[in-house]
Amino acid sequence: MTDAVQQLVPAVFAENLSVGHGGDVLINGLTLSVGAGEILAIVGRSGCGKSSLMRIFIGLERPMAGAVHLCGMDPAELLLAGGVRAPSTYGVMFQDGALWTSMTLLENVSLPLLNYSGLRGDDIRDLAAFKLALVGLAGSEDAYPHEISGGMAKRAAIARAMALDPAILFLDEPSAGLDPHTSRQLDELILQIRACYGTAIVFVSHELRSIAHIADRVAFLDMETKSMLQVATLEEIVTDSPHEAVREFFAGVQVPRREGVEI
Ligand SMILES: Nc1ncnc2c1ncn2[C@@H]1O[C@H](COP(=O)(O)OP(=O)(O)OP(=O)(O)O)[C@@H](O)[C@H]1O
Ligand SMILES: [Mg+2]
Repeated sequence: MTDAVQQLVPAVFAENLSVGHGGDVLINGLTLSVGAGEILAIVGRSGCGKSSLMRIFIGLERPMAGAVHLCGMDPAELLLAGGVRAPSTYGVMFQDGALWTSMTLLENVSLPLLNYSGLRGDDIRDLAAFKLALVGLAGSEDAYPHEISGGMAKRAAIARAMALDPAILFLDEPSAGLDPHTSRQLDELILQIRACYGTAIVFVSHELRSIAHIADRVAFLDMETKSMLQVATLEEIVTDSPHEAVREFFAGVQVPRREGVEI
């Protein structure tokens, strides 16, 4: 695919998706497109299916109906293909943000490079150290996950997800459990990643301040109607949502002034 064509292909395209487990439907008829370099927040009450949707996006679960494409490709096929295509198309930070506990931070970030980049030895070490520096963890290469703070662990997990410069980053609750200051720092990191790499970022969050600060658009999943009630900018939602559940969720949120999205 040429660069020009890639610009036209959405980073994430979900068409008429049904999400659920066994016979239980969580979300029906979800159609959504995330552009290259766009930041989309997925919100909704606990248990509405946000993490399940994420797992479908990355091909770990199959939808009950409908289809997903990441940069025009089927995520399940990307995974089955084994090689480099899945991790260079998307990176993921799961809700528990788990790092490999028996490995140092440098080894954690090196692992996807070792498996998929074709690089070896010092090249891997240098690139992994660069990714850790990118997330503000220069000097912590040899630390083990139990030796670092929760905020540092989230950063390291993002560095690992970014190891192969993927076009899309999926982050499930990146700032959950962090203090407000660390959470703000993580927001800035997410914006920096988008600005430097043009990465499309899909993140799940309950943190209204983070959502207001970094999301270009918000997708609201609703348990009552089992649907994505609305996908819109926060400004559109706050000023004019036709849905009471959405207005309630965002009640009192201040929409920050934006200079426009720089990619
Ligand atoms: N593999 C599974 N098999 C069966 N049910 C599941 C599975 N994974 C999740 N569920 C159920 O699906 C529902 C939605 O779970 P999910 O984790 O997607 O919600 P969520 O919106 O991410 O919630 P939270 O905000 O608490 O993280 C829950 O009732 C959960 O118990
Ligand atoms: Mg979840």
